[in-house]
Amino acid sequence: MNTPLPHPPRNPARGSLACVGLGMTLGSHLTPLARSHIEQADVVFAALSDGIVETWLQRMHPDVRSLQSHYREGKSRMKTYREWVDVLMTEVRAGKRVCGVFYGHPGIFAWSPHKAIEVARAEGFEAHMEPGISAEDCLYADLGFDPGRVGCQHFEASQLLFYERRIDVTGYLVLWQVGVVGDRSLKRFATGAAHRQVLVDVLAADYPLDHEVIIYRAATLPIERPRIRRVALRDLPHTPLTAEETVVLPPAQALKPNLAVQERLAALE
Ligand SMILES: C[S@@+](CC[C@H](N)C(=O)[O-])C[C@H]1O[C@@H](n2cnc3c(N)ncnc32)[C@H](O)[C@@H]1O
Repeated sequence: MNTPLPHPPRNPARGSLACVGLGMTLGSHLTPLARSHIEQADVVFAALSDGIVETWLQRMHPDVRSLQSHYREGKSRMKTYREWVDVLMTEVRAGKRVCGVFYGHPGIFAWSPHKAIEVARAEGFEAHMEPGISAEDCLYADLGFDPGRVGCQHFEASQLLFYERRIDVTGYLVLWQVGVVGDRSLKRFATGAAHRQVLVDVLAADYPLDHEVIIYRAATLPIERPRIRRVALRDLPHTPLTAEETVVLPPAQALKPNLAVQERLAALE
């Protein structure tokens, strides 16, 4: 006689992951879809810009766990970001609906949300990224330029130092994470004037030293205004700069017409 097989569990708890963006400014940037992912989750993990924003998030869900405690001065940020993936995935594997909440857009200059979604999908779990308003979106509005007008390049500032990149000075240049520029260890919370001087020396190959540099901070609280400071490139090393600022260099040259291609297109008309 055949031994009957055990019944498979009915509707086994199936974990899932949603990584959502909270936007930059508390209260005004959260989309209805992101809010719904937060409210419907079993557990919420938060990597936010400040404690006040975290307190606000706690009003939306009874189980909000901060990811900030994983940061340590002297510990590699990559180790911290891998730990974030592990804590999210531990709960997903336990059958929970997990929501990771990140400030700004969860997929812009943010390693862990992309990685966690990749790992979750590879293991057969449902995983989704819900966009948010990023520092990039805010800077177009606050600085009043359209990336489509003459084009716009974005670089992680250290990458511009560690690798040979080609800057197009006819478009805008946006540099992220200038506050930790040149930190090869990934262990520092800030670098200083000497590191920013290296950045200036690299940029000086393409820009004059009196070229305007905009240091931009989007408002994170509704009572704040965006902070916009304009300095000459040569003064960047000695201008104090926080981890929450993005640096923009306006174009240094006019667009150069490509006459050969224009003539070719004219021949088609
Ligand atoms: C790890 S990235 C996170 C970006 C974020 N995911 C987003 O969507 O904007 C951190 C960098 O974002 C930029 N950033 C963060 N807060 C900002 C703010 N309030 N205003 C302008 N830029 C900001 C800075 O360039 C900073 O070094």
